Amino acid sequence: MYLVVGAGFLGTYLIKYLSAHTRERIAAAVRDPAAAKPYPRAEYVRCNITNPADVKSLASYCAGEPLTVFYFAALHNVDYLFEHGDEGRKVNIDALSHFLDTVPGIEKFFFASTDCVYGENAPGSPKFKETDLCRPINLYGEQKLEAESIVRAHSYTAVRFSYMMGPSLLEKRHFYDRLAEKLTAGQPVEMIDGMVRSALSYETAASLLARLSDVPAALLPDTVNLCSDGEYSKYDLGLRIAAACGAPETLVRSLPEAEAAAFFRDRRASRLVMDNLRLKNLLHIARIPLEV
Ligand SMILES: NC(=O)c1ccc[n+]([C@@H]2O[C@H](COP(=O)([O-])OP(=O)(O)OC[C@H]3O[C@@H](n4cnc5c(N)ncnc54)[C@H](OP(=O)(O)O)[C@@H]3O)[C@@H](O)[C@H]2O)c1
Repeated sequence: MYLVVGAGFLGTYLIKYLSAHTRERIAAAVRDPAAAKPYPRAEYVRCNITNPADVKSLASYCAGEPLTVFYFAALHNVDYLFEHGDEGRKVNIDALSHFLDTVPGIEKFFFASTDCVYGENAPGSPKFKETDLCRPINLYGEQKLEAESIVRAHSYTAVRFSYMMGPSLLEKRHFYDRLAEKLTAGQPVEMIDGMVRSALSYETAASLLARLSDVPAALLPDTVNLCSDGEYSKYDLGLRIAAACGAPETLVRSLPEAEAAAFFRDRRASRLVMDNLRLKNLLHIARIPLEV
């Protein structure tokens, strides 16, 4: 059985992919089943992962089935987390640890980590590889790195995602949707000319993750970077969204990175790009385009 813990933007794309490409049962653990997109193949189970009684019920629900778990539940807004570190720790670290100690029958476990664990690329330095030292520069990266150590202690896999975007499949709207709406209405948008990432669409990220879950457990490494081949500033991504909406590029205005940084509560890397060769070798693929 597939178990998707936290069916938000990425989780819902994954359920969509698994629904179309697999026959196994799919369970989705969500805080609010009414807010979930009800894919008919998925069984939605109410579960707040910080509530031990909910996790116990979830464990009973899944009992007896070998599980492939995709764990997305997180408090991951960088600036909110900066100001609510203790609340973040309960979700990002304590609940993960409790989940892994409580839910039986896990054959494969994929934890949604982040490029932020690496910190920041020095100017001109190569892309980060899984074997590089991690030096996070914000609390989000620190908490995800600590969470990874719990995942590794259980011999499971941390998947380090780069920035993802795409149209939301849910009622809740993604940054992408808000930009697309403005651009389609002919309104200008300001995008940071910096914060370069190996960004990827949610749709591609979900399909690559699903394919990774087909790799035999014995061949799965403890860490995998999951990202595109490219390097994109926020401004570049704005241009991609404009193209996808058929809006003129001139509506996308460049905002200097230093000006934007003044509004952030916690630090953001100026360039944070990852090497995806390990993933390509595991999946036997040659290219990973952004695909937005
Ligand atoms: N988006 C990116 O660019 C990016 C990049 C790197 C890594 N990641 C990681 O990828 C994962 C998925 O991110 P996303 O973009 O899909 O964002 P998302 O939609 O916010 O996904 C996070 C999910 O966690 C759920 N959640 C939070 N607290 C929970 C709790 N106490 N109990 C149960 N569920 C809880 C949220 O549920 P509600 O809907 O109820 O709030 C939401 O469905 C996250 O772990 C994130 O850190 C994302």
